[in-house]
Amino acid sequence: MPERLLLIPAAGVGERMKIGYPKQYFPLIDNVTMLEVTVNRLAAMNLFDRIAVVVSDKDSYIETCRFEGNVTVYRCGGETRAQSVLNGLIAAAPGDNDWVFVHDAARPCVEKDSVLRLIDTVENEAVDGAILAMPVSDTIKWVNDKGIIEKTIDRSRCYRAQTPQVFQAEALISALKEAKGSVTDEASAMEMKGATVKVVEGSAFNIKVTYPDDIQIVRNYLQSIQKGQEK
Ligand code: C5P
Repeated sequence: MPERLLLIPAAGVGERMKIGYPKQYFPLIDNVTMLEVTVNRLAAMNLFDRIAVVVSDKDSYIETCRFEGNVTVYRCGGETRAQSVLNGLIAAAPGDNDWVFVHDAARPCVEKDSVLRLIDTVENEAVDGAILAMPVSDTIKWVNDKGIIEKTIDRSRCYRAQTPQVFQAEALISALKEAKGSVTDEASAMEMKGATVKVVEGSAFNIKVTYPDDIQIVRNYLQSIQKGQEK
């Protein structure tokens, strides 16, 4: 049976948060960091055989984190997210056909139902991988470098990519090596290789914390599920 490896790249600096330290260490709720909330929520789903967290070799915060489950920390983060994922995969050394679930440290509100839909898709459909994504509700404009609209994109074909993104280990490693760190998600590297990658509907709560205002949305969600109102 192929194993399921969850890989969490957490080697970014998160400059857009403007807090002076990496955003994954922001205390989200009850003084627990964003990274701990993300890892421990996913560990509690009991869907993964092991969890790999990838941090920078200069990281001075990770030692204070308390993780639950079968978690290994690798200090091999790279210059880009794609390089961190590739370095982490090489270090964690999954079997060629193992499923790798890559999930942003900065998405602490991922829901178990969404992950179950992803697993069902890659294990039962004729696809090379799948990603959580959300349909776009706004009208989408394509603009030139001066901000002048050139055309309107058919939004019924547009999705916002989230994570987890799931692929088999060997295929993902080879795609990331070829993409040479230039991609902003794993699916992009697989698309370049012509892989069949399906979008699976995620959740509006699975936002990536990027700007200071995102913190309040995430806190409200986490507080609401603490009160037993899980969606
Ligand atoms: O910066 P961004 O929000 O796109 O980062 C997405 C995820 O990738 C975060 O969890 C971040 O820590 C991680 N990352 C990384 N190595 C980098 C850049 C980002 O692991 N060099």
